[in-house]
Amino acid sequence: MRLKDKNVIITGGASGFGKEIALTFAREGANIIIADLDKAEGAKIADEIIDLNQKALFIEMDVSKKSDVDKMVKIAIEKFKQIDILVNNAGIANFRDIQEISEEQWDKLININLKGTYLCSRSIIEHMIEKESGKIINMASISGVTGRPVGVDYSASKSGIIGITRTLAVQVAKYGVNVNAIAPGPIITPLMEKYFNEETIERLLATIPYKRQGKASDIAGTALFLASEDSDWITGEVINVNGGAFIG
Ligand SMILES: NC(=O)c1ccc[n+]([C@@H]2O[C@H](COP(=O)([O-])OP(=O)(O)OC[C@H]3O[C@@H](n4cnc5c(N)ncnc54)[C@H](O)[C@@H]3O)[C@@H](O)[C@H]2O)c1
Repeated sequence: MRLKDKNVIITGGASGFGKEIALTFAREGANIIIADLDKAEGAKIADEIIDLNQKALFIEMDVSKKSDVDKMVKIAIEKFKQIDILVNNAGIANFRDIQEISEEQWDKLININLKGTYLCSRSIIEHMIEKESGKIINMASISGVTGRPVGVDYSASKSGIIGITRTLAVQVAKYGVNVNAIAPGPIITPLMEKYFNEETIERLLATIPYKRQGKASDIAGTALFLASEDSDWITGEVINVNGGAFIG
């Protein structure tokens, strides 16, 4: 078991990558706090984790609200005594041309994707510094590394997450806290379903040397590596998980 008795907060753990990460970590012996807006699905995943004989707690919250974030972290520490790993995974996407992105939509996306990552990291960091250990895993995206044809708000949020990752990694390295990011290529999840059809899948596959689509388990496997002792000397890194798309 690679995460035996580790306590993990996963934002956006009710769906897609977050759900897969939660179940993968629980199978490796971790106890999981699912922090998500989605009460019905979040509570269901927490029950699935309890069925795996691990501790689990669902906390309904919005990562873009400081009061929700601080309350969630307080409850998590009270119930689990210590938190070893934070996965900043909650996020939304709206792939539109810049002329179609209203100021309200820009603010909403940046507040959830980017500010949410800042708020959750800020809220847990003193706890990790005090115990001189901890791992933060941020969910970036290929959009934040190379840019994409649409969605400047999304790309900006994900480039910003890479900035948070590198800078926070340097700030807290001396306390034994690691901060890394995963930058997935496009993968079908509830977030992305509406953007995929036969034609887009074919176009996408033509850019992937590995010649298959990515799966949530590809991302969960990378998160497991970054959460485990195997990655102790890695910090401030962005791992691109995209089937080789950069060289396709
Ligand atoms: N699927 C992809 O192709 C892809 C690629 C690169 C990066 N990502 C990133 O991975 C992360 C997970 O995406 P996914 O594809 O699994 O999406 P998803 O929609 O399946 O899951 C996202 C989860 O985040 C939760 N969430 C949304 N807003 C929230 C908020 N304000 N507070 C708390 N929870 C909130 C949702 O309820 C949901 O459970 C996101 O950050 C996304 O940007 C996804």
